[in-house]
Amino acid sequence: MNAPSPVESTVSSIDMLLSRASVSPRLLGEPGPDAAQLALILDAALRAPDHGNLKPARFIVIRGDARRRLGDMLAEATRRREPQAPQAVFEKHRSWPAVPPLVIAVGAKLHAGHAIPEIEQILSAGASAMNLLNAAHALGFAGMWVTGPNAYDPAVVRALGLDEADRLIGFVGLGTPTNATRPSPRKPDRQAYVSEWTGL
Ligand SMILES: Cc1cc2nc3c(=O)[nH]c(=O)nc-3n(C[C@H](O)[C@H](O)[C@H](O)COP(=O)(O)O)c2cc1C
Repeated sequence: MNAPSPVESTVSSIDMLLSRASVSPRLLGEPGPDAAQLALILDAALRAPDHGNLKPARFIVIRGDARRRLGDMLAEATRRREPQAPQAVFEKHRSWPAVPPLVIAVGAKLHAGHAIPEIEQILSAGASAMNLLNAAHALGFAGMWVTGPNAYDPAVVRALGLDEADRLIGFVGLGTPTNATRPSPRKPDRQAYVSEWTGL
């Protein structure tokens, strides 16, 4: 079979970007990416732009029984922050990580005081999370980037093996949508977000 022409492969890459839609981790099931697919997804994530080649992004892979331990850790962190919260709140944080086959916590390992500002290091890790989602979508999986108060809790950051000065960009649940129909991608009104600067 002939390799696709550059035009054909460009069109399918654009379709891929336009068709991605987030699926809640609670609506994801097996199969998740296998080892080879996960390696591709992570390699794509590591192709994010990175000023100064600082490689700030970190990917903490959480699967199998570790997902339950993640849920316990998130529920415990929530309890420490909000001891009076209703039990349902703790259960919400405890239950979601065990649903998708795979959770990847994305961190930003920050070089404090570096000439490259921290905002750029955080943006680079965020771009990695986006590449990760797009790569998973290109391989037929779905996912969603979630944060919430746990992502900004220093105890959670430390428990995941990051330093307290680092940032947790968020959690990405990955798997296959359990709903027969996948959500349609949102189509924002382009005109509302685009302007042209002419300098005149
Ligand atoms: C940094 C970041 C954090 C997010 N955190 C949450 C979250 O905690 N809960 C949630 O429902 N959506 C969250 N979202 C939004 C979803 O990931 C998703 O973008 C949104 O549901 C829209 O779906 P779409 O990606 O198909 O347009 C977050 C997005 C970003 C970029």
